[in-house]
Amino acid sequence: MWQPPERTKHELPAAAWPTAEEAAGARLFQPIAIGARTAATRTWVPAMVPWRATDDGFVTRDVIDWYARFAEGRPGVLVVEATGIRDVPSGPLLRIGHDRFVDGLRQLTAAVREASGGETLLFIQLIDFLAIRRRPPRDKFFGRFLALTDAHRAAVGGTSDAETRALLEALPDARLPEVLAPRELEDLERGYRERVTDVHLPHIEELPRVLPPLFADAAARAVTAGFDGVELHFAHAYTMASFLSALNTRTDGYGGAREQRVRLPREVIAAVRERVAGRAIVGCRFLGDDVVEGGNRVDDAAWFGVEFARAGLEFLSISKGGKFEDAKRPKVGASVYPYTGQSGYECMPTIYSDARGPFARNVSLAATVRAAVHAAGFATPVVAAGGICEFAQAEAVLASGEADLVASARQSLADPDWFAKIRAGEGRGIRRCEFTNYCEALDQQHKQVTCKLWDRDALDAPDVTLAADGKRRLLAPRSLK
Ligand SMILES: Cc1cc2nc3c(=O)[nH]c(=O)nc-3n(C[C@H](O)[C@H](O)[C@H](O)COP(=O)(O)O)c2cc1C
Ligand code: SF4
Repeated sequence: MWQPPERTKHELPAAAWPTAEEAAGARLFQPIAIGARTAATRTWVPAMVPWRATDDGFVTRDVIDWYARFAEGRPGVLVVEATGIRDVPSGPLLRIGHDRFVDGLRQLTAAVREASGGETLLFIQLIDFLAIRRRPPRDKFFGRFLALTDAHRAAVGGTSDAETRALLEALPDARLPEVLAPRELEDLERGYRERVTDVHLPHIEELPRVLPPLFADAAARAVTAGFDGVELHFAHAYTMASFLSALNTRTDGYGGAREQRVRLPREVIAAVRERVAGRAIVGCRFLGDDVVEGGNRVDDAAWFGVEFARAGLEFLSISKGGKFEDAKRPKVGASVYPYTGQSGYECMPTIYSDARGPFARNVSLAATVRAAVHAAGFATPVVAAGGICEFAQAEAVLASGEADLVASARQSLADPDWFAKIRAGEGRGIRRCEFTNYCEALDQQHKQVTCKLWDRDALDAPDVTLAADGKRRLLAPRSLK
């Protein structure tokens, strides 16, 4: 992963854990309305893909146990990982693109309800993403994948396609930029990746017609499965964030100026609300800053936040970065991973940081969006995330009015009971995240995500389930009295 050039190791924020009485009066543990529902507290576990679904995208026992384990800590809101809205093979990513997925998801919602005593609101993150392929070996790229053009033939002077391909493959790397178009060179060096601007491809051109009903159907299934709400994934490297991005230059009315870039997200929101409003909370996660050259900045995010509030969204969860554009070149045979560049770092900042450090690093983005939403006359709750791992820090975010709810991903993974421990006045017993991103490295390799602080503990205990490698436990040990 990219790291800031000044790379300083930071200390965890000093812990000032409250007594149970202090916690009971704290802002963090007061209820808050989200749409027509009420979250019992302002604590939030955001979406985290744990790679536990089947290869066909079905819920497994491990998926259920993973979410039930978070629910034991009784966060106000728990968001289930990015879940694919299409009925297409997507590897072991959870899916909701067909009714056959509903039964498993229903078991998941039931398990969470039971584990949280009905206290936690459960949302599911709905995602669409475009095709991406692994970086090809050079011989395969020139031998098969590259679509030969007259420019290639002219550049190397081949008399047949086979000879042209062989001559291209033999070229030194330094000559490739002269001979290949920029996208061809990218396909070779990073693997083929579709963009929302590839409108010469019919399935990309038709996205504005296809996506609203796909999102709406998925949301309807989420309601049937018993979720309290849906989080539309408008963040990071995926389709909807790419429509919002200032890099979206589509000329069909869905790209260019902000008003056009927000058009498809608005149509998705309208379709989803038409199907489920009143039966489920509808909100979205989007970027407070794309952190890539030419991408959106916080002023764009503030503008979009107001549009989303106006369109009727009931919460706005703010993330940052996580883009393909600045991701590192993958090894041959691997896929580009959108959390390896600076924008990835900003999404999941580590303890090795610049002068600002990783803690509550992205809260100002949520604060800017929230201020704009309020100035426009809306009170839509805004969720902040990024390096929030301690009580006083979370309280300060709420007290200053920078956000309405506080999300903690990695701290909740390190200790799913941490909210419950604070409430019980047992903050000293919290297993504190070290922000070195072992979990994120597992995610990158599509391995079952665990935390280094507990995944080797008591592996032979009777109730322990092990990861596929046989070396790690899949769930955090229980330590709450
Ligand atoms: C293993 C892992 C998987 C993640 N998966 C998702 C995801 O599916 N959707 C999403 O919006 N964010 C995802 N994130 C980002 C987190 O939700 C969160 O925004 C980020 O980790 C920063 O918050 P933190 O500092 O509290 O960890 C993931 C993070 C991790 C560590
Ligand atoms: S693996 Fe590291 S970064 Fe991830 S939750 Fe555990 S301590 Fe935190």
